[in-house]
Amino acid sequence: MPVTSQRQALVIGASRGLGLVLANELARRDWHVIATTRQSGGELQADADAWNGRLTVETLEMTSPEQLVALRERLEGRRLDLLFVNAAIDRGDLPISEVPTDMFTEVMVTNALSPLRALEALRDLVVPDGTVAAMSSEQGSISRNTEDGYELYKASKAALNQLMRSYATRHADDGHTKLLIDPGHNQTQLGGPDAPLVPHESVPAVVDVLEAQAGAPGLQFLDLHGETVPW
Ligand SMILES: NC(=O)c1ccc[n+]([C@@H]2O[C@H](COP(=O)([O-])OP(=O)(O)OC[C@H]3O[C@@H](n4cnc5c(N)ncnc54)[C@H](OP(=O)(O)O)[C@@H]3O)[C@@H](O)[C@H]2O)c1
Repeated sequence: MPVTSQRQALVIGASRGLGLVLANELARRDWHVIATTRQSGGELQADADAWNGRLTVETLEMTSPEQLVALRERLEGRRLDLLFVNAAIDRGDLPISEVPTDMFTEVMVTNALSPLRALEALRDLVVPDGTVAAMSSEQGSISRNTEDGYELYKASKAALNQLMRSYATRHADDGHTKLLIDPGHNQTQLGGPDAPLVPHESVPAVVDVLEAQAGAPGLQFLDLHGETVPW
């Protein structure tokens, strides 16, 4: 099948963990996938080589506005059915009173500001009935924040959710499906080795949700089973 008739996705932050599995799962389902990494080579490039054109690699440091502009220029002429920002960081489990200011800034800029900058920079590549999505977390749910821990990470995901709501209001009439996804607690570098889920099982469920929601209007915050996560 020629590439132009395939659904096309851009996954930002796909060097490892959930993003790497997401890029591969979309390719397995016959999407053409552009996936970003900060460093050339590695597992993503090896997978791209094995997919023989169905998965291609771009370089992006998501916190760099200049690199976002350069990526947008390199993608000129592309039409995306799915724009998915997966990248995020966690800097451990300090109570907020012990979080240094530069750590607070780094996590907020990476997890909240930069995903929205990426969506704004690239959204004009998304087809009118396409999907714009970001990987959030149940940890970003204010109403479910009833256990202590990970205060900064939780705040960054709540900020992401809030900014995504503003984005959805601002672009209410663009026809795009807008999603915040909670993938569940997974064994990755960020999720740790004791998480109950593994990306190879949870990511296909996430892609089921993405495919099922394609064309649905408005913004939703959904888990990997397609259930609504409360704000
Ligand atoms: N794992 C979980 O249990 C869990 C649960 C809920 C939500 N999530 C969310 O799911 C997403 C993926 O998490 P994960 O568990 O797969 O984490 P991970 O294994 O730590 O992977 C994070 C990915 O984000 C990339 N990234 C981080 N900062 C970046 C930046 N400034 N620019 C570009 N790329 C950047 C990393 O690239 P490098 O390799 O270059 O660092 C890596 O590809 C995140 O949004 C996370 O918050 C995870």
